[in-house]
Amino acid sequence: PNPSLLILPGDGIGPEVMAEVRRIIDWFGANRDLAFDVSEGLVGGASYDAHGTPLTDETMAEAQEADAVLLGAVGGPQYDDLDFPVKPERGLLRLRKEMDLYANLRPAQCFDALADFSSLKRDVVAGLDLMIVRELTSGIYFGEPRGIMDDNEGGRVGINTQRYTTEEIRRVARSAFELARRRGNKVCSMEKANVMESGILWREEVQWVHDNEYPDVDLSHMYADAGAMQIVRWPKQFDVIVTDNLFGDLLSDAAAMLTGSLGMLPSASLGAPMANGRPKALYEPVHGSAPDIAGQGKANPIACILSFAMALRYSFDKGDEADRLEKAVEQVLADGVRTGDLIGEDGTKPVSTSGMGDAILAALDKG
Ligand code: NAI
Ligand code: MG
Repeated sequence: PNPSLLILPGDGIGPEVMAEVRRIIDWFGANRDLAFDVSEGLVGGASYDAHGTPLTDETMAEAQEADAVLLGAVGGPQYDDLDFPVKPERGLLRLRKEMDLYANLRPAQCFDALADFSSLKRDVVAGLDLMIVRELTSGIYFGEPRGIMDDNEGGRVGINTQRYTTEEIRRVARSAFELARRRGNKVCSMEKANVMESGILWREEVQWVHDNEYPDVDLSHMYADAGAMQIVRWPKQFDVIVTDNLFGDLLSDAAAMLTGSLGMLPSASLGAPMANGRPKALYEPVHGSAPDIAGQGKANPIACILSFAMALRYSFDKGDEADRLEKAVEQVLADGVRTGDLIGEDGTKPVSTSGMGDAILAALDKG
């Protein structure tokens, strides 16, 4: 049977960018003998409108069964006043939680044609290809005890707890080492072992996984604050960075901006290996539903298209086809094709969402 792909376009520009991904999936089926069993479902506000919930049990079950899930974006101002349990983002959070997607992959890749778009100097970012692996399901965002309490002296105290178990650290470390073997074979682990107990355990357990399971990969450790400086100073020194939930949240957002527009950034969230050996996986652009441009054909579909490229590489073992798709994107950017978000003050005329899709398909045709 063909590998299965569940597509959840969601809200706002989600369906617009996903329509371009559908055309690209069809291209691979027609031209590369790479067919998927694609099914489509609702998530976020779209699901709330139809079913009164941001994710139905049926769609949740389909996501558990699929070889990979590809999501557009959720949310929008029309849903801002909904009650907490039915808010659009609860659909996304439920997917991540029930699929137990503990490794969040955030690449920061700089296409040469966009190097001048970065806030950093061209030399620093041109050709950059960095992957941050952020632990996503534990750490200080989830640790107990938590809460706002009386401090018994007439004031209040806000408490969160950073807590990591051996196994939580080891499994995300394994994800990072696996990735490194397919890339530059280098991992830098970031924590604050100088001031945090969880940081000491983090460093020891990452080292343990390295020594016992991945001695061939080059491992280094860095304090996360120093890492933040190094990411901005000379990001090309890194290949894979692995870090906890909180540090990863900050470092991945900072690294993302090395490369320009939100409309360019893909992501993947991976869980434990399934029966077929591949990880449970959800792929999605980093951007949201962009209500300010939704419905106008202005959205850049590249973030979502590159998310599909990540699915080809990490869920379907088609690294060569992922390369083909990324090269096509690189080519259209080199040719000067730009959606509105990629244009400065230089008077270039933007293409529409489907115009960008057309250009990428044409580049795929040319090979
Ligand atoms: P956003 O990412 O939707 O938009 C931020 C800015 O970037 C906007 O000016 C938008 O037009 C632009 N932008 C984003 N993606 C673009 C693309 N592909 N092409 C061109 N321009 C693009 O973030 P914002 O405005 O904070 O949130 C809007 C809604 O999206 C909210 O309801 C929020 O909760 C939701 N959201 C959903 C996420 C998800 O589904 N994973 C992530 C972030 C926000
Ligand atoms: Mg963030």
